[in-house]
Amino acid sequence: MEERTSSSQSWDPERYAKNARFVADLGMPVVDLLNPQPGERILDLGCGDGALTAKLVDMGCSVVGVDSSAEQIEAARELGLDVHVMDGHELTFEGEFDAVFSNAALHWMGHPDEVITGVRRALEPGGRFVAECGGYGCVDTIVKALKEALKRRGLWEEGVNPWYFPTDAEYRGRLEERGFEVNYIALIPRPTPLPGDIGGWLETFAESFTSRVPEADRPAFLDEVREAMRPRLCDEQGAWTADYIRLRFAAVKKG
Ligand code: BEZ
Repeated sequence: MEERTSSSQSWDPERYAKNARFVADLGMPVVDLLNPQPGERILDLGCGDGALTAKLVDMGCSVVGVDSSAEQIEAARELGLDVHVMDGHELTFEGEFDAVFSNAALHWMGHPDEVITGVRRALEPGGRFVAECGGYGCVDTIVKALKEALKRRGLWEEGVNPWYFPTDAEYRGRLEERGFEVNYIALIPRPTPLPGDIGGWLETFAESFTSRVPEADRPAFLDEVREAMRPRLCDEQGAWTADYIRLRFAAVKKG
């Protein structure tokens, strides 16, 4: 097995609610693709603070959520949800679910074959795996700006980037090799307006990059990154839009 890269990303539910509420708000297309039916047993993989988990519960499903962040799970538990701290690479469920659902989480899991194998094990035969995550080219402008600013400081290493953004062809292959029939898979460019300055996004999602920089140099580092991105991601009114590309798919467990 490849060695896992250790991401220094941490999750603060308050910061997440302030800077990243759009993640769940923009999750309805993948919920629609899941087409959840009342009474279905659903695993929400990478449930975060439970915003979409709660939506699935409201739709009449019996939902278990898992996430590797104890802080996010605590926030989700406060909503009264059935949620557990669990690494998506090490799912422990066996044939318990009609569907596994995931929004904006798989790109944080750098060993996709382990994830897909665990998802397959968790599903009943015929069960669905329906998900959306960052896809190939997602936040390219942001990654390039962070990488260049780290390089200038001699702080760049390959393992710093925590994100896995596959093409549709690559992910389809992984699913098919692991016993899924893929009914739909697509890369979908989705420029995403941010609720404030790009600094809030970096603070929330890019800690694996920013934590490399000594604290005293961090404001200068962030200014440099912001100015490098501005021509592509900020309009004349000062509104920022992140260059998201989504990978969305629906697959069924064969056999
Ligand atoms: C997301 O939440 O979808 C996301 C987070 C970090 C990078 C790209 C996408």
